[in-house]
Amino acid sequence: MKLKKVFIETYGCQMNEYDTELIKSILKEDNFEFTTTPEEADLVLLNTCSVRENANRKVYNRIHRIRHIHKNKDVKFGVLGCMATNFKEKLVEDKRLKIDLIAGPDSYKRLPSLLNNINEKDHKDSDVTLSKIETYEEIYPTRQEGVNAWIAIMRGCDNFCTFCVVPYARGRERSRSIESVIDETRKLVTEGYPQVTLLGQNVNSYTHNGDTFADLLKAVSDVEDIKRIRFTSPHPKDFPMDLLKIIADKANVCEQIHLPLQAGNTRILDLMNRTYTQKDYLNLVDEIRKQIPHVILSTDIIIGFPTENDAEFEDTFKVMEKVQFDSAFIFKYSERENTVAARKFPDDVSEEAKTERIMRLNALQKEISLKKNEAHIGQIHEVLIEQKGTKRDANKWQGRNDGNKIVLLPDNPEYVVGKFVKAEIISATSNVLRGKTLNKL
Ligand code: 5AD
Ligand code: SF4
Repeated sequence: MKLKKVFIETYGCQMNEYDTELIKSILKEDNFEFTTTPEEADLVLLNTCSVRENANRKVYNRIHRIRHIHKNKDVKFGVLGCMATNFKEKLVEDKRLKIDLIAGPDSYKRLPSLLNNINEKDHKDSDVTLSKIETYEEIYPTRQEGVNAWIAIMRGCDNFCTFCVVPYARGRERSRSIESVIDETRKLVTEGYPQVTLLGQNVNSYTHNGDTFADLLKAVSDVEDIKRIRFTSPHPKDFPMDLLKIIADKANVCEQIHLPLQAGNTRILDLMNRTYTQKDYLNLVDEIRKQIPHVILSTDIIIGFPTENDAEFEDTFKVMEKVQFDSAFIFKYSERENTVAARKFPDDVSEEAKTERIMRLNALQKEISLKKNEAHIGQIHEVLIEQKGTKRDANKWQGRNDGNKIVLLPDNPEYVVGKFVKAEIISATSNVLRGKTLNKL
């Protein structure tokens, strides 16, 4: 029997979403078909994340569940992505999981031949080799329908923040050419995508034949008819100042920056190997706000990094109070095997302290997000319509403004996904804005 029907599920970050789109293109080329239900598949692929322990746990649970419900006892299982590189031995050794295939983020072009091996010869196969050059730039991803197209402009990370497993899971930094990104953006425009989001573990490190990230962003923004451009994530240590001018000047580059802070205390930042101080970060925020006064800022925070004491945590609290981010993803430190932090520092902040810290920061951020969102009431925003129906109300429409905030709008027969409307913001919660339509743009 030839494996034909594939079910693929994605965990973790946007880079993984993008990789799944690449994998679909690679497998379609080899005549594989896709199904949206695992029960129908004869091959189940999980594109995994291992950035925190609970991401790992989710994948193990999912494998057991699918095995349990599947009628075909011969269903093959493949683990792709970051867990593949990080946990290959464990995945192979765990006989209950019965994994047939393990492939890391740089091995996706080999998937057809790996799958052929596990099928024909009925044995297990794996490839977790990391590449210094693979960018997949010649593969056009099979994207999900929607208004946003991800474009990975670089892969890997050379920063080695001490808590982070990504440099081990995804290997060294490498960038693709400006031309390939422009060609892809042009093609996306003709397919009707109004928005692209440029992706990289640290987009500031983009470099190709002397071109910088600012060169790339400018070139993408010059593509005719691309309406919105976003990017994620820049690192505060080397934020290029010429980027701010492009964001401020170019109407189609969204005035929104995700700027991971991680911690507000300089000693902890140093232990994390972030290579900036609290003051550097605050100065950068001042400069950003000077050049882009209406910028929407978001961040990532880790609380409970080894040895973080109460006073040091208070520094993070104070920086968040001071910066007033529009939103923040706040995580408990999760020790990752083989990282510098795991080797050098015991995970010594108690679970209780971590819980208390995360609750305090979440409460603070909720208050700030509400205040920030309420400040938009009365303003007119351009909203890109994303979908009809929300979890709570099938007749509401959902879109996003330039700052990437969700805007909910009442039903309107003239709305079309992918089109822009002008809306007046009439109310807000800490998560969403609610608007009323003025007219189509
Ligand atoms: N523990 C907790 N959070 C982590 N992140 C990365 N590694 C860890 C870890 N070991 C968070 C960082 C990063 C985001 C994507 O995930 O905040 O910016
Ligand atoms: Fe991880 Fe730091 Fe690289 Fe981000 S910049 S992927 S946190 S090592």
